[in-house]
Amino acid sequence: MTTARYSKTMIVLHWVMAVLILAAWLTSEGGRHVRENPPVLHFWLGFSVLVLVIPRIISRLLGGAPEMEAPRRPLLDLAARAGHWVLYAFMILLPLTGWYAAGRLGVPVTFFGLPLPALAAPVQGAPGWIAEVHETGGTVLLWLAGFHAVLALWHQFVLRDGTLTRMSLVR
Ligand code: HEM
Ligand code: HEM
Repeated sequence: MTTARYSKTMIVLHWVMAVLILAAWLTSEGGRHVRENPPVLHFWLGFSVLVLVIPRIISRLLGGAPEMEAPRRPLLDLAARAGHWVLYAFMILLPLTGWYAAGRLGVPVTFFGLPLPALAAPVQGAPGWIAEVHETGGTVLLWLAGFHAVLALWHQFVLRDGTLTRMSLVR
């Protein structure tokens, strides 16, 4: 059986960004630590996600995604599609809320040495609900991505429909 695949660009971006997201989560810190000792690596990894999601969306819109396998179960296919767009929403909103939180905490952020403007004025106490959304959202994304990965493995190894092959460079 020959399986339709995502474009090479999309496959590379998918796996590179999966690693970046995991690494951003692993390097994240909350609370007072962030003001005293900003997690620079966390900022850098998170920004890389925000930057790379742009070519990923363009590539997708330009036809980098293959057709769904024979749409036997329209509702499930719709759920898969919706799930992917939810992941995209997280890949955009999470770095933006983190950037905002950094501004509220008064922590400067740079990307490859380039100083980025603060999205919010610094405050003395707690950085507010958007920072909380970021902290919780970071972990929610990890759970969603984990669930997504389990579904992909289920498709590949139980339903044996070649789903993982669609996202693989290996023949
Ligand atoms: C996909 C990308 C990202 C993920 C998965 C992520 C995840 C997280 C998580 C889980 C926390 C909470 C850590 C804890 O409470 O122990 C956190 C905190 C934080 N992140 Fe991110 N983050 C991302 C991108 C960014 C970006 C781009 C920035 C900004 C430059 C940023 C700035 C911050 C700040 C300032 C905090 C502390 C917030 C506070 O203490 O209220 N993050 N992040
Ligand atoms: C080990 C972890 C992961 C595995 C095994 C995995 C597997 C897959 C597979 C097999 C597909 C193709 C589904 C299809 O047939 O259309 C896919 C698509 C997708 N995955 Fe993952 N994935 C993982 C992690 C992630 C992470 C961390 C994210 C982002 C938060 C993500 C976001 C997406 C998105 C948005 C799509 C739709 C195609 C696209 O627009 O790039 N995945 N994934």
